[in-house]
Amino acid sequence: MPAAIVVGAQWGDEGKGKIVDLLAPHADLVVRFAGGANAGHTLVVEGKKLVLHLVPSGILHAGKQCLVGQGTVVDPGTFLDELDGLSAGGIDVAGRLFIADRAHVVMPHHKAIDGWREEASGARIGTTKRGIGPTYEDKVGRRGIRVGDLVRDSLDAHVRRNLEAWKPEAEKLGHTLPDAADVIAQLRRWGERLAPFIADGAALANDALHAGRNVLLEGAQGSMLDIDHGTYPFVTSSNAGAGGACTGAGIGPTQIQRVIGITKAYATRVGGGPFPTELEGEVGERLRKAGAEFGATTGRPRRCGWIDIPSLRMAVQINGMTSLAITKLDVLTGFDELKICTRFRLDGETVDRPPFDAYDEVEPVYETMPGWSDDIGGCDSLEQLPEAARAYVDRIAELVECPISIVSVGPDRAQTLGSTNPFE
Ligand code: GDP
Ligand code: IMO
Ligand code: MG
Repeated sequence: MPAAIVVGAQWGDEGKGKIVDLLAPHADLVVRFAGGANAGHTLVVEGKKLVLHLVPSGILHAGKQCLVGQGTVVDPGTFLDELDGLSAGGIDVAGRLFIADRAHVVMPHHKAIDGWREEASGARIGTTKRGIGPTYEDKVGRRGIRVGDLVRDSLDAHVRRNLEAWKPEAEKLGHTLPDAADVIAQLRRWGERLAPFIADGAALANDALHAGRNVLLEGAQGSMLDIDHGTYPFVTSSNAGAGGACTGAGIGPTQIQRVIGITKAYATRVGGGPFPTELEGEVGERLRKAGAEFGATTGRPRRCGWIDIPSLRMAVQINGMTSLAITKLDVLTGFDELKICTRFRLDGETVDRPPFDAYDEVEPVYETMPGWSDDIGGCDSLEQLPEAARAYVDRIAELVECPISIVSVGPDRAQTLGSTNPFE
């Protein structure tokens, strides 16, 4: 059973990219299984930063295969830009980077509609405007265009039918859709460039597993943005959790050996929606500054707050996490005291799980722990962490009932403590 899943345990941006890059040397194939270019996964190696939106975060490791899985939605323009960036950086992807033929295509009008809806609603959801919602709607509505369609004659008819379906909404929003012939021509140009990368994703993943190779499944977004489990309707449009990994990569659940959840040592969220532990004043600002909390995709400031145990505990459960990686512990350095939200108060009662609704009305119940002042960015082992930092990490593990296998103390690949082989 040589497959392991890396999944976000909060509202995204937990540091999945960094951890996947760290674990990738032990994998043979890394598969992005959900989401699209709404994701921004940051890798920092020896001070050099790379942000990936679609290409799996294992790509920096020469010889490792990477697959953009069938559960994703692919914006060909973004993907090709990313390829150009990698190539300019001297990273050779030839013969080892693939896109699943069954992944759905984000078309220019998907992005336009996403933007028009945001404009009309006053950015209620605060989407990334990358066309994610409309593309997944087309997939479920059985009128989507798949990557494999880009190189088939039937493309024209599919695109025309698709544009027809969006026409009423575009008109209602006061906009005009692009001309079908232009969309088709653009998709065909993209298809020509993508052709060498298109593969049967499920076959690739299953052949690797059959040969005893290690497969790492890379999630995007986070459990609280999952369409089924998150803070609906303030969520993304895919199964961002571990449940989406099997369908998104095309493998069976019996292949999964480990599920590693990634959580920050505090909490952030970008976009609209409930966030009970949000800190709007000075403390929030301090976290945002220390953690450089600005979106890797949209540049928006991220909302910041204390760690939310009820949501994290739910994430541990719904993903079947075997361990957690806790990132950005260094950001908490210098606080006199730290707060952990252990429960919520709702209508005079305390609850230890996120409620169905009224998420906005819950009041966090905090436990306070002492902080530490020593710089931890240079620690080489968990033992070297100040006692208060270790106590903080241990308390989180205890509260969510899940061991913590990795502690990250800085953005660089090297600034990581703990066990890095998920296939042992
Ligand atoms: P992802 O979407 O889950 O891959 O996360 P992002 O890349 O969007 O956001 C995480 C940000 O935190 C990136 O800028 C990372 O370089 C940075 N980061 C990751 N781990 C650490 C850490 O332990 N400490 C600090 N200070 N920054 C980190
Ligand atoms: P990574 O993989 C943080 C948020 C958006 C918005 C909601 C819906 O980098 O962790 P969408 O564009 O998906 O329709 O937006 O989800 N969102 C993310 N927030 N990190 C992400 O990805 C996100 N992807 C989407 O801000 O609130
Ligand atoms: Mg991100």
